[in-house]
Amino acid sequence: MIVKVTGVTHYTDSLFKITTERPKTFRFRAGEFVMVGMGDYDSTPKRAYSICSGPYDEELEFYSIKVPNGPLTSKLQHIKVGDDLYVGGKTTGTLITQNLELGGNLWMMATGTGIAPFMSLLRDPATYSDFDNIYVTWTTRTMAEQDAYHNILKESNCTFIPTITREEFHRPGRITDLVKEGKVFEQATTERDKVMLCGSTAFNTEMKNYLTERGWHEGNKTSAGNFVQEKAFVG
Ligand code: A2P
Repeated sequence: MIVKVTGVTHYTDSLFKITTERPKTFRFRAGEFVMVGMGDYDSTPKRAYSICSGPYDEELEFYSIKVPNGPLTSKLQHIKVGDDLYVGGKTTGTLITQNLELGGNLWMMATGTGIAPFMSLLRDPATYSDFDNIYVTWTTRTMAEQDAYHNILKESNCTFIPTITREEFHRPGRITDLVKEGKVFEQATTERDKVMLCGSTAFNTEMKNYLTERGWHEGNKTSAGNFVQEKAFVG
């Protein structure tokens, strides 16, 4: 479908957010992704984007990096209010609460633009009724790379644990290292703590290995688990 862009916000020189109108017929589950392209359908490739808005929100929101020479994002970064955006009709993804055993603590762990599907889940009231406590960890190189969502996360009904790797910060370092050093997630148990991972392949693999070595098992459509993962798209 083709939708009209209602807002574009640029953060650092490599991060931006697009909001669009939402046709009433477009349904999705919090945490899913969809294919996105330029409005002139044939001119550019489509890429998978997590939907950042909640399932009941009136607009759609997408968060993107600008991939240097990227066939889509080098054009998409110039999109303006009133322009057309192509959004595919089929939404899908593994970062949905249906793939997890419900109850206890939900940990959403993101690096970079991997925060996008978690914004959707945090904007869905069902997430708060499905779990007792929600923890969000977000690792980026700099503080500025958290501008799009840092304040929303701080004010939302979750425990927000930002970590910064390439600037001074009160919680410096990669989340994977903080977990291994016992500074975060140290009380977690396979019964109580459910985990969603969304970041680079290296991050996902490292956390997945950490969890599986300690007895966590991955969930999917056919059988709920106590962790799920998806690679952050577009870089
Ligand atoms: P670092 O600065 O140590 O590379 P990027 O900007 O490259 O997408 O990375 C986003 C954030 O994810 C950066 O803070 C980066 O830290 C961090 N990161 C990269 N690889 C891993 C990993 N294997 N585990 C945890 N964090 C990682």
